[in-house]
Amino acid sequence: MKKITLLFIPIAAVISVAITLNGCVASQTVTAKSGTQLWGENCGRCHNSPSSSDFSGAQWEVIGTHMKLRANLTEDETNKIIAFFKSAQ
Ligand code: HEC
Repeated sequence: MKKITLLFIPIAAVISVAITLNGCVASQTVTAKSGTQLWGENCGRCHNSPSSSDFSGAQWEVIGTHMKLRANLTEDETNKIIAFFKSAQ
């Protein structure tokens, strides 16, 4: 009985490491999203998705910061969306 318990510990450790590593892979997938994708997923949730030509580059900077708070985006996601708007003008 004791041997089985001892064997269980390394197996549990390996499973824990595998789950942790897998979690990291998943979060990398999230950060790999493009500005276009983030825009599509977030900016139409509360109102119609604005088009890049609706505002100037300087205006997008301000709107991006404002909507970062509204949409609960990270700094990285916000910068990608702003870059997308600027590139698509
Ligand atoms: C959680 C809801 C929510 C999300 C998600 C959201 N917005 Fe907004 N947005 C609002 C609200 C509410 C307003 C009204 C103005 C205010 O809040 O000051 C607004 C206003 C705006 C305006 C001003 C509209 C105008 O005609 O003056 C723009 C532009 C805008 N959002 C862009 C975006 C972009 C770009 C995204 C994606 C990053 C986004 N929003 C995501 C809630 C949201």
